[in-house]
Amino acid sequence: MSTDINKTIKGFSKLSKEQKIEWVTQNFAQHPKEALELLKSYWHNELSTQKLHDDFIENAITNYYLPFAVAPNFRINNKMYCIPLAIEESSVVAAAAKAANYWNVRGGFKTKVISTTKVGQVHFIWEGIDKNKFHSFFEKLIPEFHRRTELITKNMRQRGGGILNIELRDKTDLIPNYFQIHALFDTKDSMGANFINSVLEEFAKTLIDNLAEQTWETNEKQVQIVMSILSNYTPECLVRAEVSCPVKDLNEDNLSPDEFAQKFQRAVRIAEVEPHRAVTHNKGIMNGIDSVVIATGNDFRAIEACAHAYASRNGKYSSLTHCEVSDGIFTFYIEIPLALGTVGGITSLHPMVKFANEILGNPNAEELMQITAVTGLAQNFSALRSLTTTGIQKGHMKMHLLNILNQLGANEEEKADIVNYFKDKIVSYQSAVEAYNKIKRK
Ligand code: MEV
Repeated sequence: MSTDINKTIKGFSKLSKEQKIEWVTQNFAQHPKEALELLKSYWHNELSTQKLHDDFIENAITNYYLPFAVAPNFRINNKMYCIPLAIEESSVVAAAAKAANYWNVRGGFKTKVISTTKVGQVHFIWEGIDKNKFHSFFEKLIPEFHRRTELITKNMRQRGGGILNIELRDKTDLIPNYFQIHALFDTKDSMGANFINSVLEEFAKTLIDNLAEQTWETNEKQVQIVMSILSNYTPECLVRAEVSCPVKDLNEDNLSPDEFAQKFQRAVRIAEVEPHRAVTHNKGIMNGIDSVVIATGNDFRAIEACAHAYASRNGKYSSLTHCEVSDGIFTFYIEIPLALGTVGGITSLHPMVKFANEILGNPNAEELMQITAVTGLAQNFSALRSLTTTGIQKGHMKMHLLNILNQLGANEEEKADIVNYFKDKIVSYQSAVEAYNKIKRK
């Protein structure tokens, strides 16, 4: 494999934005002049707003737009919400809005935060031989861990959060000499990554400093810190959302309420027992969850990683939602870990994130967990409702029609005509192209 040495650069991050663009477009774009214009056309016309975005990350050269939509009519614990969603997939918002309307007249969504505990770990290697001695040494060190982190935890403690627990975990059965400081935290309304990581790094220093003072026999003080980092697996930062109504209220075209309830429950059951289906089922849930997470400026990678780990917690990948039908009552629910924040990060910086939180009534982290879980459940309800009745493509392709027409270069009038034409017809790529060509020929 040959490497084009002219396309490597030293000190790229030190270049001005214009210089970076120049270098990228000259070296990598097929049409540098057009590329330059494209990048500039995505700059915000307000200089200070653009600067804000440039400062979020390194090497920013322009902005990347996602549509920002809302799904109204979400009744959650009898309070009405209009939920912001940032997503590119055409049918997601329509599905959320449809489920919101459906459940608005059937009692709405009920939610509950089960727990809000976050986790952080210092991973280290200790080559000593007397584990008992080490355990009792560690126990005695716990007040010192608290004392040495007092400054870092002060504000958090004032807000009612802080360090909940610190314990030594012996992991030598996994890797020789491997131990952890496994700590639990309450980070209140912040996602808490910086807080947790700062505390953990101080724990690591505290461990080293105190071991250095020990007078144990030779080689009993060989500690090597491997890393100090929060865990994005937070099974105890858990929220539940559910919908429930008498089966007789599940009226569908061409299907009795009992048949619908049975088909729906079976579809959920398949996702509970069959990983291929479970992944797609959960992907649909994450369509809703990620959209809210992105709109509210949270870390969707952390949320995704945790959700899928949680879905595998019993040793096999399974559904995040569940359905019960008993005594004529249909209940559909989700339990999912969601470590979200409404303060810190970009929440007070990004203008659209601020707006998203504003229309949600500036929720605290627990309320946002509930809203987000509801959106995931709603999304899954709509997907399963379509899948078990009309099939998914009917709705999907209708929503996708505009993308196809934009790709073909249709103007607004042509788009309106073709959308109207497909009102009572099945959309496919081919049929859309044919309809477009027909209009063009006219
Ligand atoms: C598409 O983005 C999501 C679905 O595939 C989810 C599902 O199958 O449950 C429709």
